[in-house]
Amino acid sequence: GIDAFAHRFEPGAASAAPLLLLHGTGGDENDLVPLGRAVAPQAALLSPRGNVLEGGMPRFFRRLREGVFDEDDVRRRAAELADFVAAARTRYGLAAPIALGFSNGANIAAATLFVRPEALAGAILLRAMVPLAVPPKADLTGKRVLMLSGVVDPIVPAENVNRLAAMLRDAGATVRHEVLPGGHGLSQADLTLAKAWLTGA
Ligand code: MLT
Repeated sequence: GIDAFAHRFEPGAASAAPLLLLHGTGGDENDLVPLGRAVAPQAALLSPRGNVLEGGMPRFFRRLREGVFDEDDVRRRAAELADFVAAARTRYGLAAPIALGFSNGANIAAATLFVRPEALAGAILLRAMVPLAVPPKADLTGKRVLMLSGVVDPIVPAENVNRLAAMLRDAGATVRHEVLPGGHGLSQADLTLAKAWLTGA
């Protein structure tokens, strides 16, 4: 339910799709609010804090080490996040949100698309990787996904992010994948591309 996640909510116009902001490892519910406002000035922003702590750093699911995930936990936490989104939609009167996730937040967004597709209208995945080696069979027809990866990202190999794009397309999503110069960190190009993609939504 709504109390499952500490979160921040910023109201917006009913005409703009709400954004579900999902931070990276060590972030919190405040981290992505400026980015969300910048890419979608009118949108309601729903920003939960990840419930898993790794050495004191909030995340959205457990990992065994960098890039190696506890997939049972990924599934469970994605379902928990989807339940939170449903409760928040009722509480705040929201349409299905578009996820805007960075790193670990992008990974839980991708997992949620496969585990509970109805929770999200689409997703912007910044530096995502494959969250589940064999995801549940999902119908993602009508979901729009923007993936932005970094060509020299030390955490996300090109093979891995390309595989995620193919998995989403195979499930029926409309995927745009851009490979940006740079690594795991975000740049102005991420903001510009995300904003333009949302405007075309
Ligand atoms: C993850 O654990 O989701 C990925 O390794 C990205 C990260 O959080 O560093």
